[in-house]
Amino acid sequence: MKNNRTDLHIALTVLSLILIFDHVSAALSQYNLLYESPREQPMHPRTFFLTASQERKVVNEVLCEGKDCPEFRVVNDFSNFIQERLYSDANFLSTPSQNSCDVIGTLNAANESLEKYRKGENERGRKFYPVAPLLAQIYHVSSIKTRYPWCKMSIMVNMYIPPYLGIPPAPTNNSLSFKRLPKAFHVYVYTFTGGIEYRMLMELESFRSTLDALMLCYNQERFYLATYKGINEVEDRHEIWLEHC
Ligand SMILES: *[C@@H]1O[C@H](CO)[C@@H](O)[C@H](O)[C@H]1NC(C)=O
Ligand SMILES: *[C@@H]1O[C@H](CO)[C@@H](O)[C@H](O)[C@H]1NC(C)=O
Repeated sequence: MKNNRTDLHIALTVLSLILIFDHVSAALSQYNLLYESPREQPMHPRTFFLTASQERKVVNEVLCEGKDCPEFRVVNDFSNFIQERLYSDANFLSTPSQNSCDVIGTLNAANESLEKYRKGENERGRKFYPVAPLLAQIYHVSSIKTRYPWCKMSIMVNMYIPPYLGIPPAPTNNSLSFKRLPKAFHVYVYTFTGGIEYRMLMELESFRSTLDALMLCYNQERFYLATYKGINEVEDRHEIWLEHC
């Protein structure tokens, strides 16, 4: 009888030791989590992780073809290669808004006026390195399924002004003016290659239906066309940007 009682006592002691051990190790593992978590930034699912400055380098080299381009942060990646970006405040030199059925002609002429500024046609004769992308802001209120859709759009073309210029010199062509990106400029971005005149309108339609299917809200009155020049026309890359609302 006495032995049995001792056995019971031992069993209870062991049991309580196990319970205490469990308790302590649970507390310890909580501590481990506490020590680990502040170092880890919440990340989007990606195949690998880049720091902000590494990402900027990659973007400049790959996306902007080694040219200076406005800084942004990727907010989200969606299906169908749609990316949501948040652009930092940036300065642009802009042409006046123009209506013309000839979109290619309009873009080339605007690029030429803006490039002249970059090559020194400004009040200080200041030149600066090539920039990207050429950013066209395009208003179109009516459907693009009309007969000559481009005739119903108005186009304003913008060139990025890199911050190292400081206060940029005034252009000698007084139809050009400076514009800043809207505050907290959130855009959905869709990349395509190929011609602008026909291909782009089809891409815009499919981009919009994908955003509709994802129930994402975007500005319906205007879009942006960002062109990154490659070594030849086949290598040119275009992005359509639709503003988040
Ligand atoms: C000034 O810029 C406007 C708009 O792009 C262009 O139509 C015009 O030809 C330019 N003028 C000169 C002198 O380059
Ligand atoms: C703008 O013009 C420059 C030089 O004239 C040219 O190198 C560049 O490819 C043009 N960019 C676009 C987007 O047409």
